Amino acid sequence: MNVTDRELIDRAKTMLDKAYVPYSEFHVGAALLDSQGNVFTGCNVENSSYGCACCAERTAVFKAVSEGSRSFEAIAIVSSAGGETYPCGICRQVLSEFAPKIRVILENNDGELVTYTLDELLPHSFSL
Ligand code: THU
Repeated sequence: MNVTDRELIDRAKTMLDKAYVPYSEFHVGAALLDSQGNVFTGCNVENSSYGCACCAERTAVFKAVSEGSRSFEAIAIVSSAGGETYPCGICRQVLSEFAPKIRVILENNDGELVTYTLDELLPHSFSL
């Protein structure tokens, strides 16, 4: 029951409709694969107090951790803008807490998958 990178991107795309984005109208979807093969999805959730917004990636991580999953293999991220949607700095740091070498899967404007490791995107991440 291996989940492919393409399937993970497709799961992330299913979350675009769920994004609560009345302020930015920028929809983001994420799908996080854990080492047991479970997928946790997330969307961004905004708030009239803008700083309260939660990104799609963190929604997925917090869903997973709160369900007892902490070991992650890959995360796929898409947005309504199309093309590569890179995780923000806060989400990179949150991912690094649990999975410093997680694979980050994006889709470019040609529909091709582009992958990085988190340590490429966030070298020298902070840890205690
Ligand atoms: N956003 C994400 O969901 N993930 C990111 O990595 C960057 C930004 C959201 C936050 C906000 O709802 C909207 O995109 C515009 O910044």
